[in-house]
Amino acid sequence: MAELEVLTYPDKFLKQPTKPVEEIDGTIQKLIDRMTETMYNAPGVGLAAIQVGYDKSLLIYDISPKEEKRSLQVLINPRIITSEGTIISENEGCLSVPDFRADVGRAASVLVEGLDRTGKPIRIEAEGLLAIVLQHEIDHLNGTLFIDRISPLKRELYKRRIKKKLKRE
Ligand code: NI
Repeated sequence: MAELEVLTYPDKFLKQPTKPVEEIDGTIQKLIDRMTETMYNAPGVGLAAIQVGYDKSLLIYDISPKEEKRSLQVLINPRIITSEGTIISENEGCLSVPDFRADVGRAASVLVEGLDRTGKPIRIEAEGLLAIVLQHEIDHLNGTLFIDRISPLKRELYKRRIKKKLKRE
């Protein structure tokens, strides 16, 4: 199974809102498998389909991605139902925003509903790292990157750095 290429900022495709998955068919299962391989190889704790070029409301995550204890989670058409409190997500990063980390304000806890890979409705009450990962990945499904949630000054610095880098290449 071939790994997928992860799109990176400033690729405009990442800004695209995604469409709901209508049918969880073989194509979707194959996409999930390829995303899984891509996420573990990166390595990352989460990956949204939009990051690998599919504008579908689909994400995967594993907050304990060490090989011995892997526990892959698949979330299709997720929605944040409620969110409470605030926390600072320290040094947040993203496979689509290489070589950059920043503190991001996030809700402290969220209630998320969606479907698992068999189409069964699931409901997740999350706090801490899991809540952060879910918010980060669901943001992707709405075309939002974590750098859209940091101060404009920090964002400008990153943008300038990327522009310089692209010019050099
Ligand atoms: Ni990300």
